[in-house]
Amino acid sequence: FTDFQLYNEEVPQFLPGSKEIKNLEKALEHYENNCEDIPIVINGKEIRKGQETYQVMPHRKGHKIAKYYYADNATIEEAIRASVEKQKEWDRTPLTKRIEIWERAADLMTHKYRADLLATTMLGQSKTVIQAEIDSGAELIDFVRMNAGYLKQLANDQPLSPQPEITKNSLRFRGLEGFVAAITPFNFTAIGGNLAYTPALMGCSVLWKPSDTAMLSNWTVFKIMREAGLPDGVVNFVPAIGKNFGDTITSSPDLAGINFTGSTATFKTLWKLVGDKIDTYKNYPRLIGECGGKNFHFIHPSANVQTAVAQTIRSAFEYGGQKCSACSRLYVPESLWESQFKGPLIEKAKDLQIGDVRDIGNFYGAVIDENSYQRILGFINEVKNDPECTILAGGNLSNLKGFFVEPTIVQVKDTNKRVIRDEIFGPVLSVYVYKDSDLDKTIDLVRTATKYALTGSVFATDESFLKRALEEFKHAAGNFYINDKSTGAVVGQQPFGGARQSGTNDKAGCPFYLMRFASMQAVKETF
Ligand code: SER
Repeated sequence: FTDFQLYNEEVPQFLPGSKEIKNLEKALEHYENNCEDIPIVINGKEIRKGQETYQVMPHRKGHKIAKYYYADNATIEEAIRASVEKQKEWDRTPLTKRIEIWERAADLMTHKYRADLLATTMLGQSKTVIQAEIDSGAELIDFVRMNAGYLKQLANDQPLSPQPEITKNSLRFRGLEGFVAAITPFNFTAIGGNLAYTPALMGCSVLWKPSDTAMLSNWTVFKIMREAGLPDGVVNFVPAIGKNFGDTITSSPDLAGINFTGSTATFKTLWKLVGDKIDTYKNYPRLIGECGGKNFHFIHPSANVQTAVAQTIRSAFEYGGQKCSACSRLYVPESLWESQFKGPLIEKAKDLQIGDVRDIGNFYGAVIDENSYQRILGFINEVKNDPECTILAGGNLSNLKGFFVEPTIVQVKDTNKRVIRDEIFGPVLSVYVYKDSDLDKTIDLVRTATKYALTGSVFATDESFLKRALEEFKHAAGNFYINDKSTGAVVGQQPFGGARQSGTNDKAGCPFYLMRFASMQAVKETF
C-alpha cells in the first residue's frame, strides 16, 4: 500500500442556520415521528420474530423510537452457523477489497448519513448534539477510516527478515477461525461500530449483540456498512437477552473471540463460561474486554486551579457521567480547597442546565434508563443518610418525564465510602480533601482505593512532581492525562483501554487492537 495518510475527522461547528443544523433538524424530526421496525439480520435475511421490545427516549420515556426483536436461542444458533460458514469465504477476500469497503463506509458516514447517526444517537442515548457528534460523527468515522489505514500500515511493515534469493518470509493475516461475538454498550455508538466491525475488517465473521438502549443508532451503523458493500453474513445483527446470548455463544465450539464493552461483572461471567468449557473449543477464544472504572483527578498543590476546576466539571458531568472514562473521584489539597477550589467547582456544577437534548442550552440529557436511575438514586440516598458525607451540589432526581439526575458533588471524610470506591456511571462526583502534609499517603490512596485502572489525571505545574507522577501512577490508569480531563481519548492519538478490573487493555484506536482479531500464519517460501 502506498500513498495513504492517517487523519482525524473534523468536528463541525453546528452554528445556528448552518447546513449541518438543517440536516440534523430534518433527521431528528424523522426519527421522533417514526418508530423504526428493526429486524434481526442473519446472512442478509431480515427476521422479525421473537419477543418484541421497544427502545424509548431516556429524556421522554413514553416516546418509542424503535421496535426490535430478541433472538431466541435457536435463532442465535442459526446466526452462529451462518457466521462460521461465511468466515471461510470472507477470509479469502483480499485486504484491498476489505479496505475499500471500510473507506467507502467512512465516506458515507461523513457525507451522507452523518445527520442520521447524530439524530439516532441524540434521541436514543440522550446525547446533546456535540456529545453525539464526538461519538457517532467524528469518533465512529475515525474508527472506520483509521482502522483501514492501520491495516495498510500493518500489511506494509512486515517485521521479518528474508534471505534474498533463497527464501521469502511473510506473515499472513488470517481472521479468527469460527465466529466472534461483539457485545457492545449503550454509551458510545462509536464503540459499538468499532467492536463489531474491526474483527470483520481483519477477516472474522461477527455476531453483533447491540445494547438494548442503543438499538437505533447501532442499526444505522449496520445499514451503512451494508450499503458500503460489506457482504451479507460477515456481521450479523442479533439483538438478544444478555444471558441467552452469553450462554449460547459460549456453548459453540466455534467461538473464536468475544469483543466486549460493559460491566466488569458481565465480562467475568463470560470469562467463567469460557473457562468452564475450554475443552470444547476448536481454538482458544480471544477475550477482549473494556469494563468498569472509577477514574480520578488528582490535584497537586501547584495546580492551575482554573484549569483543574473546568476540566473536572467536563470530565465528571459531560454526558451525565456516562463515559467509562468520566472522573468520579477528585482529590484536592487543603491548601487549595476552601480558598480557591470549592466555590468555583460548586458554582460551575450548579450552572449546568439539564433537560431535553433538543434544547441546545442543555449540558446533558437524561441517564439511560430506569435501572441506571435507580442505581444512582441508591448511591445518593446512601450519602444523604451518612453524616460523614456532605452533598455540596445537586442531589435531586426525577423520573417523571425522563431519567434526570442533577450534577451532584459529594464530599467524603472517609475514603472507604462506596461513593468514592465503586463505579456509579452517572453525574456524581466524590471529593476528598487531603492534608498537604499527607501527599505521599494520598498518592498511595489514589492508586489503591479501587480495583479499577481505566483513566486518571494529574493537575500540577511543579515539573518535578509531574515527572514523579508518571512513575507513581504508572499502573493506576490505562489512559493517563497531565493537566487535562480524564475523558475524550481521540482515535489514533490516545488509544483507549484500562487494566486491572477495567479490562484487558487492548487499546482501541491503534494498530495493536487490530492484531487481536488476526491469527497470523508465517509462510516461508523457498526458491
Ligand atoms: N473513549 C471515551 C473517552 O475517552 C470513553 O469511552 O472519553
